[in-house]
Amino acid sequence: MSDKKRASFGGKLSAILVAAGSAIGLGSIWRFPYLAGEHGGAAFLLVYLLCVLIIAIPVMLGEFAVGRYTHKNAVGGFRQLSKNWQILGFNGILCALFISGYYYVIAGWSLDYLVNSINGSLYNEGINFAEQFTAFKASSWPIVYTIIFILLTHFIIIKGVEKGIEKASNIMMPILFIILIFMAIRVAFMPSAAEGYRFFLTPDFKQAFSPETLFTAAGQAFFSLSVGMGCMVTYASYFNEKTNLIGTSLSVSLLTLFVATLAGLVIFPAVFSAGLQPTEGPSLIFITLPEIFKDMPLAPLWSAIFFILIALAALTSTISFHEVLTAYIAEEHKLSRKVATYMTTGITIILSLITLLWTFDFEFMGKTFTSTFDIYDYGSANILLPLGGFFTCIFVGWVMKPSFFKNEISNYGQLPGKVAPALFILIRYIAPVLIMYIFLKGLGVF
Ligand code: PHE
Repeated sequence: MSDKKRASFGGKLSAILVAAGSAIGLGSIWRFPYLAGEHGGAAFLLVYLLCVLIIAIPVMLGEFAVGRYTHKNAVGGFRQLSKNWQILGFNGILCALFISGYYYVIAGWSLDYLVNSINGSLYNEGINFAEQFTAFKASSWPIVYTIIFILLTHFIIIKGVEKGIEKASNIMMPILFIILIFMAIRVAFMPSAAEGYRFFLTPDFKQAFSPETLFTAAGQAFFSLSVGMGCMVTYASYFNEKTNLIGTSLSVSLLTLFVATLAGLVIFPAVFSAGLQPTEGPSLIFITLPEIFKDMPLAPLWSAIFFILIALAALTSTISFHEVLTAYIAEEHKLSRKVATYMTTGITIILSLITLLWTFDFEFMGKTFTSTFDIYDYGSANILLPLGGFFTCIFVGWVMKPSFFKNEISNYGQLPGKVAPALFILIRYIAPVLIMYIFLKGLGVF
């Protein structure tokens, strides 16, 4: 595809909303609250915040620089700069496949819960939500809803970068913010809200800096900002020469932090008010939340609003990793976007079906893996993304000339470049050292 014909996002706000759309998703609204619940609430929030600021933002800037400079997909972008480094792009493709293999499944759960909130069947008299969730997972409905979700994503991607991705994000993101703020206000009036706030906002420093918490929080920082797999390379390839990369990365990170914090402020007060435990794990929002909604007036309505929120957040993220694969297939294998979109959708359906239908049981590093769901989640957030992030720092900080990064993030002197040298130090020294330290320590290497 020639540069002239290549799509690009309209304005400044679009660049932010699209990238924030990728970042804000199940990571912030489903994954963050349950991890925070398992790792001491506020302790986790604090470490996560530090990981975002010190590690994930420099990596995002590095990816932005590669994408906007080359105007290519993840593999093509790294290859254009240095042939040997296209492998980093392939790490991203592998990671996008991993995430595609399980993310749609959870997105599908949210669709099912949305439908059952609307038709009221989720709130039938005397229902036990834990049993209901187990029964639901064992039925065929997850397959149906997962495929519906993949098709929804497909329809947006097939419309293209501007009419599909950009438009969808510009509409869905503001709705998402409004719903979340609205829910946070509603929850503040619940009886034991204060206890939830305390759990989520007063950190226990000892727990915060344990290797386990650091490892999980760093993985969450990568996952929730969509960095370490070339997603931001792909999106930045549609930025124009005026896009302010530093401003965009800060806005995206702050919006993501804002949403994750708000999600915590919705979920923990509600959990404590209902006398439940915050350590429920991945099923937190599917078991605990209905339990809470059930005692509210207009339960199905609140529940429907909440699951619309989850589905919208998920959709603006699924389009981003679908696009990573679509752009890669179209550009590297010289196929039309349409064919590439269909191929990605097909591969995604197969991967999701494997996750839904195949179960096993093995242990690795004290964690039990019972389906490809667990492997994909753990493998992407805790292994592939941190590795991708580390090598992105090495590539931009050491392999490329310093001027590459500094020029890109200051738009070749168009923007005041005072912070560029400091950010360069971050991406060259601080971020890679910290990522490696947290990674090796978390894996128990030393
Ligand atoms: N950031 C997304 C979320 O939090 C997930 C994602 C990861 C999307 C990597 C794209 C790439 O839900």
